[in-house]
Amino acid sequence: MNKLQLTLAVLKPDISLNEKAVSEIRKIILQDNYLFIRTKFHKLTLNQAKDFYKVHEKKFFYNRLVYSMSSGPIWCHILARENAIKEWRKLMGPTKVFKTIYDDPNSLRGNYGVTDTRNTLHGSDSDENAKAEMDFFFPEFDFESWYAKEESQFR
Ligand code: PPS
Repeated sequence: MNKLQLTLAVLKPDISLNEKAVSEIRKIILQDNYLFIRTKFHKLTLNQAKDFYKVHEKKFFYNRLVYSMSSGPIWCHILARENAIKEWRKLMGPTKVFKTIYDDPNSLRGNYGVTDTRNTLHGSDSDENAKAEMDFFFPEFDFESWYAKEESQFR
C-alpha cells in the first residue's frame, strides 16, 4: 500500500443529528477504505464559522453559509487513506446540488444533499488546506508527528 494521506471531513448541521444517515455515511466511508483517525462532535459559534470560511467572505452566499454551519452540531473527522483529499472530494460529489443530479447522483451529496448550503459534507481541497483545517478543529493533533511516526503502522 502507498503512503496514506490525511484529510478533514465534516458532516454539516443539516445531517449531523440524523443518526440513520450518519451511520450510513460512516459505513460508506469505511467501505471506501478510509481510517477514522480522530473524531469530534462539535458546535461552531457564528464567529468560528466566519473564521473557517473567511476565504469566501466576499461571496454572495457567505452569510447563508456561516449561519447554516453554526446552526447545529457537526461531526468532524480526520480521515486517512491513499489520496484521501482527492478521493474524499470524489466520494462527496459536486458542491452544487444541480451538478449532483446530472453528474453524480450516487455520490454522498447526490444522495443526501438538498441545496448548495445544505449539501451535507465538507472536505479539504488541498494538502495545505487540509493541514490548516485539521489544525482548526483538532489543534491538539500533531499531524507532522502522525505522518512521521504513525502513518506506516496503518499500512
Ligand atoms: S466557489 O464560489 O466555487 O469558491 O464556492 P464553492 O467552492 O462551490 O463552495 C464553497 C463553500 O460554500 C458553499 N456554498 C454555498 N453556500 C450557500 N449558498 C450557496 N449558493 C453556496 N454555494 C456554495 C459550499 O457548500 C462550500 O462549502 P464547503 O463546506 O466548503 O463544502
